[in-house]
Amino acid sequence: MYIYRARVFDTPTNPFTGGQLRSDTDIALVVDDGKIIARTDIGTATTAHPDAEVIDLRDGILIPGLIDTHVHYPQIRAIGHLGKPLLEWLNECALPEEEKLVDDAYARNVADEFLTGLIGSGTTSAMVFGAHFASAVDILFARAAELGLRMTTGLVTSDRNLPEPLLTTVDRSLSESQQLIDRWHGQSRLRYAVTPRFSLSAGPELLAAGGQLVRDNPGISVTSHLNENHDEIAGVAQVHPQAQDYLDTYDKAGLLDRNTILAHNVHPNDRELARMAETGAAAAHCPTSNSALASGFFPLRRHIEAGVKVALGTDVGAGNGFSMFKEGVQAYFMQQLDPNGGQPLTSAHLLHLATKAGAQALDLDDKVGDLSEGKRFDAVLVRPTTGQPLDVGITNAADDEDALAKLFAMGTPADIAGVWIDGQPVK
Ligand code: GUN
Ligand code: ZN
Repeated sequence: MYIYRARVFDTPTNPFTGGQLRSDTDIALVVDDGKIIARTDIGTATTAHPDAEVIDLRDGILIPGLIDTHVHYPQIRAIGHLGKPLLEWLNECALPEEEKLVDDAYARNVADEFLTGLIGSGTTSAMVFGAHFASAVDILFARAAELGLRMTTGLVTSDRNLPEPLLTTVDRSLSESQQLIDRWHGQSRLRYAVTPRFSLSAGPELLAAGGQLVRDNPGISVTSHLNENHDEIAGVAQVHPQAQDYLDTYDKAGLLDRNTILAHNVHPNDRELARMAETGAAAAHCPTSNSALASGFFPLRRHIEAGVKVALGTDVGAGNGFSMFKEGVQAYFMQQLDPNGGQPLTSAHLLHLATKAGAQALDLDDKVGDLSEGKRFDAVLVRPTTGQPLDVGITNAADDEDALAKLFAMGTPADIAGVWIDGQPVK
């Protein structure tokens, strides 16, 4: 048993609906077998648990483990291409790299690089967009199990409009996906997600096969892309002439429910927003990607007003890194700049989007997302080097909201001094 004595920031209540930052300068989290069994003052904690080891973290700020709801495993080596819109970027930058994961040795290296990037940035839970090759997905599951990451991922499927080595068939996608589900879903902290790449590269039959997997395997998740770019949306309408809009391609296939996360949704119509709210499907907002590919301004206010769940995703490799702090501050910038009038965001909103909202999108909020009694101890210690700008900012902050704003403005993976998942230190 451990008692973590720390300065703790989290957002158990939603700042979009009147909640605010919870900040405690000196609090004790009593952790037994990975679970927070008490959140109290240090005197009460040590009296109640005299044999527990006290770990003093008060030289940093402890926040909940960060949650990335959209990040591509095979794209770590594709980060940083500039100046291309989505479809050109896919063809010239992302897909040639993704083809290389047919080679298991290559996939093993990429999986290690990818997981190092995620955990090094303080990400403890993630919805990971997998690879088009079942063995590469198997390799990722195995490495994530060894490291203990809370990860949902799956086999990416497509049957048209991509290079031939990345295509599959309905039958093959069903059998390979089912094998991966049987092997990994529910093991360690892993879960499976049906992952059609997007409705431009997946026809109605392939999407329906995904719906079949969801019906056959209750509890599995779904992830894909939605309404990212105008050329993409026009192409989807050609592939799916019977669908009333982009979201409807997934709906018709039985792919929408509260375990569904759809990335981007930069250009939704009102019907799509209402239907997402009705089904409980979440949007993964990926602002560095939307900026890099000039996809547009995410209509955050419309999502919130429609009651759609929104969380943050880095969208590596169109997004330019694994840091959820960078992603958070970019979300803030884009809402500031939106010519249609964005949603003003405070530092509490950013922390919520990067933690609790991600837990809700992943349907993990009974376990993680904040550091309340009863939750698992997934946590990140931010401790910048003394004298560096982030340290100066935090030391001289006007109040805790201001200190948190500085963390998002200046925090990098180098400032992350500790990461715990289920009470286990992983960094
Ligand atoms: N749409 C389909 N595939 C992708 C991808 O890899 N990245 C992004 N940003 N959008 C996509
Ligand atoms: Zn993506």
